[in-house]
Amino acid sequence: MGQYVIAGNWKMNKTPAEAAALIEEIKPLVKDASCKVVVGTPFIDLQAALDATAGTNIGVAAQNCYWEKSGAFTGEISADMLAKMGVQYVILGHSERRTFFGDNDLTVQKRVRGALDAGLTVILCVGEYLEQREQGITGEICAMQTKIALGGVSAEEMSRVIIAYEPVWAIGTGKTATAEQANEVCHLIRETLAGLYGADVAAATTIQYGGSMNAGNAAELLAQPDVDGGLIGGASLKANDFATIVAAAK
Ligand code: PGA
Repeated sequence: MGQYVIAGNWKMNKTPAEAAALIEEIKPLVKDASCKVVVGTPFIDLQAALDATAGTNIGVAAQNCYWEKSGAFTGEISADMLAKMGVQYVILGHSERRTFFGDNDLTVQKRVRGALDAGLTVILCVGEYLEQREQGITGEICAMQTKIALGGVSAEEMSRVIIAYEPVWAIGTGKTATAEQANEVCHLIRETLAGLYGADVAAATTIQYGGSMNAGNAAELLAQPDVDGGLIGGASLKANDFATIVAAAK
């Protein structure tokens, strides 16, 4: 299916010096990776991460961005600013942004637009809450989040969109979706993409699983036909664990 991408989501962890040190640890461990490797750092660490990854096979992601290019938006960072500093990826619509910081499908759509216009590659997060899974509406929720976020995105631009399926109940909880559950929803997202853009774009799009993926369970999850990688939180802060997950993505 899509190209394998293993991306670390460091969340609100690491100072610039700590970020550089962690990347120095990760670098030799992933240098022969057969997948794309990305580290998603806090904004203040991005320059240190860009410096530490220069000339390596590791890409750098921000964890959010604002859609306007510049202006009176105190505290915000634009997609344009990220692109101009050399950042290649941005994680958008993460459930923590949606739950704690008021992000919603329409603001995620605007962020995706801004990021693509700036030339970034988007890692778009979608996923259901536990109550929604129990109600049997996981498919509808993930399809809707995907469709709204991609409103106005062209088939051509989809080469710069990665989707991360992250069931909210599995994030940071140690409760991983089973490989079958992960594959089922990743498959459904691919069908949603096929409906929007056709089978070729759907097949070429990287669809990751995220939510308590770790060194122990990564191989089984990544072996699923519709799982093309992982968005890794906790385990991405440990160089050896992260490298084990990268090695499992073949
Ligand atoms: P986790 O986080 O691996 O710690 O569950 C994943 C994520 O939030 O992207």
